[in-house]
Amino acid sequence: MTTAETSSKPWNSIDALANAVRSCTGCGLHSTRTNAVPGSGSSKAEILIIGEGPGFNEDQQGLPFVGRSGKLLDELLAAIPMSREDVFITNVVKCRPPDNRDPLPDEVAACRPYLERQMELLDPKVVVTLGRVSMLRFHPKGKISEDHGKILEWEGRILFPLYHPAAGLRNPAIKRELQKDVLKLPEALRQANRVSPKNIDDKIDGEITTKAPNSPVTQEDQKLPEEEQENNNRPSSQTAEASTADAQLSEPLLKNETTKEKGDRQLGMF
Ligand code: URA
Ligand code: SF4
Repeated sequence: MTTAETSSKPWNSIDALANAVRSCTGCGLHSTRTNAVPGSGSSKAEILIIGEGPGFNEDQQGLPFVGRSGKLLDELLAAIPMSREDVFITNVVKCRPPDNRDPLPDEVAACRPYLERQMELLDPKVVVTLGRVSMLRFHPKGKISEDHGKILEWEGRILFPLYHPAAGLRNPAIKRELQKDVLKLPEALRQANRVSPKNIDDKIDGEITTKAPNSPVTQEDQKLPEEEQENNNRPSSQTAEASTADAQLSEPLLKNETTKEKGDRQLGMF
């Protein structure tokens, strides 16, 4: 099998990369996809939004976040206010994992060059990760329940992890967190201008310093009391199964999902 890496051309534009993705056979997911989903949005966007992987609707249409999660994402952006034309949206893996399961490590690895090249080509100031899988790609030690809504630094860019909209659809408390967190995105963009390497070069007096990777740029958004309360209110059977609040609340962590709900999700409800 050819990996995306070994078959790579320079992919000198977002469109060239998208074409490569559409014909990619770099991992096993190519054999079950209907359409690959390279991503969509403005190639001039300052904000790159990264989900986990296409779901049913995305696989059908070849576009990211076109199902219910996408509708919530649109609502969240509208509150800032922003629209899809202001951002670029893609996923960690570009082809739908069967049954909407988590992408396997070798699938994430095979698809990695595409996301890396998208980062280079788009050169976003802010990377917004949706859900745990996407956050871990940049912040391997992160915990979504602690790090969502924090403005972090990652290799000269701002990393802004959010819960996955699908988790918000499932859990009203998470939806409220998403609604609250997204209001900080404009501030994340402002912070990005202060941490960009270019600006650091410009400031010869060293006024702006590069933070350690993943260190919080602001401390204001520590774990919120109501989030802890939500965690405490969860049934103890779930607490026993998933020993941390992170495991309970993160997405695509669907520990509390019944087989039926999983089936619904597989049918593209999320
Ligand atoms: N969930 C994702 O993670 N990505 C999509 O594109 C759609 C749903
Ligand atoms: Fe290629 Fe990525 Fe699709 Fe795998 S998931 S076939 S690496 S585009």
